[in-house]
This record gives sequence, structure tokens and C-alpha cells, in this order.
Amino acid sequence: MASPVALITGASAGLGVDFARQLSAEGHRLVLVARRKDRLDALAAELGNTRAIACDLAAPRAAARLMDDLATHDEAVELLVNNAGFGLWGRFFELDAKQQREMIDLNVGALTDLCRAVAPAMVERGRGAILNLASTAAFQPGPRMAVYFATKAYVLSLTEALHEELKPHGIKVWALCPGPTRTEFGEVAGFTGNGAFDRLSADSASVVRAGLKGLDRNRAVVIPGLANKAGAQGHRFLPRSLLRKITGKIKL
Ligand SMILES: NC(=O)c1ccc[n+]([C@@H]2O[C@H](COP(=O)([O-])OP(=O)(O)OC[C@H]3O[C@@H](n4cnc5c(N)ncnc54)[C@H](OP(=O)(O)O)[C@@H]3O)[C@@H](O)[C@H]2O)c1
Repeated sequence: MASPVALITGASAGLGVDFARQLSAEGHRLVLVARRKDRLDALAAELGNTRAIACDLAAPRAAARLMDDLATHDEAVELLVNNAGFGLWGRFFELDAKQQREMIDLNVGALTDLCRAVAPAMVERGRGAILNLASTAAFQPGPRMAVYFATKAYVLSLTEALHEELKPHGIKVWALCPGPTRTEFGEVAGFTGNGAFDRLSADSASVVRAGLKGLDRNRAVVIPGLANKAGAQGHRFLPRSLLRKITGKIKL
């Protein structure tokens, strides 16, 4: 019989490292994926019972190649944590077009491909779980991070739909929507460093802890932190035209 594994993407930094640590502590056998293999290897050595795969998930057919690798090792994904992702700060018409496209290929393309790749076997087994990393960015348009916010709106919408579709098959699907969290995200996104993001940032381990509780409770959407929960409800009491203007004024 294939060995059950938790597959975690983006496990070389930030939230992914904490997912790996917490899921390992719960007794999961892990497969970690990211581009920086040295970091994955170090984490795998620290945790034990863990395999590391270097993979650029924004590359064409990356998800298919990853699933082939798992099949070769006779591993069955019991939990998929679709965590790899990045954002870019700046005006849409000035940001690098190729990097923006890579963001869509990773945040949307690879995430969707991996959900599609693992779901059939989970349906067949009548159990499994998929956690997709969305963001509080999913709840409104984000001028100056337009593509990033749009990718996260997609992730939230897809995840909520899959939650309903797969529930009758015994599969739990949920979205974690963190607000600002202390990871390498801001550095990668190119925040100009006025400190606002850092001041508002939550601790990565506690965000992951809150996210994993969504599995026990079979929630469709988990928003960690009271301020983030309130912010995500903004669209209920503010007109969208105002909401997007406010979001565009926030300096990071
Ligand atoms: N931090 C926040 O404030 C925040 C808030 C809401 C949502 N999120 C979401 O949380 C998730 C994790 O982000 P983080 O904050 O932990 O950021 P991070 O510290 O920058 O980590 C991002 C991870 O994604 C991996 N990654 C990036 N590009 C990749 C690619 N092409 N192929 C494979 N892996 C790739 C990185 O590994 P390599 O560079 O080694 O490939 C790294 O392991 C993202 O989806 C992000 O959008 C973050």
C-alpha cells in the first residue's frame, strides 16, 4: 500500500516551515517542495521522516512532474498544503510582466493543478484534506498589488467551491486567509519598508496553528486574528468603490 504523506509546497521559508514543523509534530510523514533545496534538506534533516523535492512550481507541467515523483516513491497525498506563493508591490503597468505572469502560474496555476491531481485518489479513498493559502487580500481588489490580490480572490473562490463539491466524498477543503505575517513575503514583494507591514505582522507559527484548526472543524475559510476577521468583512458595510480606494492608500 502507498505511504500516506502530507505534501507541503513552499516549505523552504515562512509559513511553509511552520506547517512542516507542526504537521511533523502531529506525526505526519512529509514531502516538502520549493526551489531552494538546501533549505528543504536542512528542514528534512531536523524533522526526520521527511523527503525534500526541489521544484519550480511556476514552470510548465511542474505539478505533473511532482506527482510523477510521488508515484515513483509510492506515496499517496493524504493532506495537500498549497502554500507556495508570492506577491509583488508596485503599479501594474510598471511591474515586470514576466514576474507577474509567474505569480499567476504559481499562486493560481500550480495550486489548481495540484488540487486537480490529488482529488481523484482522495475521492476513491473517501478521505483526504486540502488546505489552500489565500489571504485577507482575497476579499477586495488591491491597487498596487493588483495581480496578487486577484490571485488570492481566485484561491478563495476555488477553495469554497471545492469545499462544497468534495465534502460529500469525505474530503476537507479549506482556505487559510492570513493578514500580514512575519515571513520573507514582504522582502520578496518589494515592500518599501516604512514598517507598516512589520508593525501589523502576526507570528507565523500562530497563523499556522489557527489554520490547521480548520481541519478539525471542517471550516471552509479560516481568518486568523480579530482585526483580520473584521477587515475581511469590510465589503459587507463599505461600498466596493470605497474599499478599493482605501486599500490603494495603504503603504507597505
Ligand atoms: N506573509 C504574509 O503576510 C502572508 C499573508 C497572507 C497570505 N500569505 C500567503 O502565504 C503563503 C506563504 O507565504 P510566506 O508568507 O510564507 O512567504 P515566504 O516566506 O516568502 O515563503 C514563500 C515560499 O514559497 C516558495 N516559492 C516561491 N516561489 C516558488 C516557486 N516558483 N516554486 C516553488 N516554490 C516557490 C518559496 O520557496 P523558494 O523560494 O525556495 O522556491 C517559499 O518557501 C503564500 O501563498 C502567501 O501568498 C502570506
